[in-house]
Amino acid sequence: MSDDQYEEAGYDEDGYDEDGYEGGDPGGARGMRTDYCGELTRDDEGREVTLCGWVDNRREHGEKLAFIDLRDHTGVIQCVVDEKHDLRREYVVQITGKVVGRPEGMENPFLATGAIDVQDCTVEVLNKAQTPPFPLNSRQEIDETLRLKHRYVDMRREKMQRNLRYRAHTISAIRAAMEEQGFLDIQTPLLIASTPEGARDFVVPSRKEPGSFYALPQSPQIFKQLCMVGGMDRYYQLAVCLRDEDLRADRQYEFTQLDAEASFVGQEEVLDFISYAVAAATDAVRGVWPEDFPTMSWIDAMEFYGSDKPDTRFDMHLIELTPLFEGTEANVFKTDCVKGIVVEGGADNIARNRIDELTDMCKKWGAKGLAWFRVLEDGTLDGGLTKFMSDDEVHGLVQMMQAQGGDLILLQSGDRHLVRDVLGRLRLEVGRELADPNALNFVWITEFPMFESIRENGDPVAAHHPFTMPHPDDVDYLVRGGGESLLKVRSQAYDLVLNGWELGSGSVRIHDPEIQKRVFAALGLSDEDAESKFGFLTDAFSYGAPPHAGFAFGIDRLVALLLGETNIREVIAFPKTQSGADPLTNAPTPIDDAHLDDLGLRVLPPAE
Ligand code: AMO
Repeated sequence: MSDDQYEEAGYDEDGYDEDGYEGGDPGGARGMRTDYCGELTRDDEGREVTLCGWVDNRREHGEKLAFIDLRDHTGVIQCVVDEKHDLRREYVVQITGKVVGRPEGMENPFLATGAIDVQDCTVEVLNKAQTPPFPLNSRQEIDETLRLKHRYVDMRREKMQRNLRYRAHTISAIRAAMEEQGFLDIQTPLLIASTPEGARDFVVPSRKEPGSFYALPQSPQIFKQLCMVGGMDRYYQLAVCLRDEDLRADRQYEFTQLDAEASFVGQEEVLDFISYAVAAATDAVRGVWPEDFPTMSWIDAMEFYGSDKPDTRFDMHLIELTPLFEGTEANVFKTDCVKGIVVEGGADNIARNRIDELTDMCKKWGAKGLAWFRVLEDGTLDGGLTKFMSDDEVHGLVQMMQAQGGDLILLQSGDRHLVRDVLGRLRLEVGRELADPNALNFVWITEFPMFESIRENGDPVAAHHPFTMPHPDDVDYLVRGGGESLLKVRSQAYDLVLNGWELGSGSVRIHDPEIQKRVFAALGLSDEDAESKFGFLTDAFSYGAPPHAGFAFGIDRLVALLLGETNIREVIAFPKTQSGADPLTNAPTPIDDAHLDDLGLRVLPPAE
């Protein structure tokens, strides 16, 4: 969308709705108030206004007067109130008074409304309030469980107001961008059979069919594909998804996806649709339209960054050293793969005990240890392993790493998968501070393999879900019990990554029931299992499935990254704690025996 189009959609440069979304008065219906606290300016001087909100703070002023900071969803304004009112923090009040400019030199530069006061106030207390469980206007860290237990109080804080408002702006911008591109919002059911996204299902017992369960959707994957068979052409939805998996900074049980699917398109078009929607969201929050959505192949991401979600805000690439150590005498480098990274200036800045710490981390990540060298000013190396290396190897190492005097070289040697993984983590550990915290580096990762590993029982682990189209040249490798050869199968799957976080995933889908059967078989699903789980899907495809492709990205993750938050809980109104509980409502809670009887359920005592 161009700037003009974007303004037409109702957003100004700052990402705020021009029609006063901030205040929210489309028809001027402000109810019990004439104005909002944060919107008053010197232009309002002399006007009588009525404001409603919460007492943010109170300061005595001589014997007769008090300064009340009145707060609503738009900001805070100072009101000068007669002392006889017993106004405590968080009381809900309606204040009528006159807007008066503050004398020069008396303005408060820290307050948006700091150039004015409301004076000669009459006050009505609309509701009293208990002392809040934590201060609302302080920047000090507050225990998160306490915040979540009283989320309704926490939400009054400026940061939560900002975050939830920008979340809404993000969603409106994405909706506008998707609809502009011809996508139709279609709701899909919450009570379903299982979706194979790889996590555990949350299940809902059926009362009508005791012993049977609905699954809550891990994503609307199957339904959106069925919409394509149904000729809906372009579907999107802001879909709430549920996955029973361990919670982390970027994971909740319930989260929201922008989910999309389109017919008669391939990967290129999907990347365009989604980049456009993500750019619109970025503009809504940051006020800049990102133009740069580069692509990188999965193999390059793994070889150069050691991760399929590379943080490209800094380089520190993993450098391939395997050829250098061919025929080496040093046992530690007689392996499948040797790779390294250079920490500029690290010889001076990284102390020995920090290197020991990094070594311990590498061991925790599965490596045998960490090889390290300080580069001396004369271009030679200082490090315990140099005594096992030839002069050519020492010289070649400095050259291949393009290292300078004062740098630190860190090497990993071993199995290629492990080397990439450990060095990728190490790169983040020692390089993260090089990343500009305000930068937004999007990158599309393409050409994912179809399977990421082989389980002990020989079945492969799908890298994406089983509806992903394999590369046409690799279909022949798709056989049950294919073992290692399955790892050669390329897929038409792609991810969008932002600053080292996986924002979303998608793929071109299988629309040919025969290929779908081969993929189910390669995954180790018996024909009967495939039939009972997904028979309805293969059936549907036999009625004329168009070629189609799609994508989904996490709204919570996108909003958090756009706002510079490191945890998605900060951009969700009522999130669960890390342990999956809701301290506000105490969910999950037991249900009573009668309810269990109704559902035909018995609860077993906890396992010993
Ligand atoms: P995938 O499983 O990769 O793909 O999910 C897409 C995106 O959803 C977000 N996400 C989560 N966010 C918060 N908490 C979670 N527990 C969580 N799990 C996932 C991530 C992730 O990248 N049906 C496919 C998409 C497709 O093929 O069209 C799918 O759901 O940002």
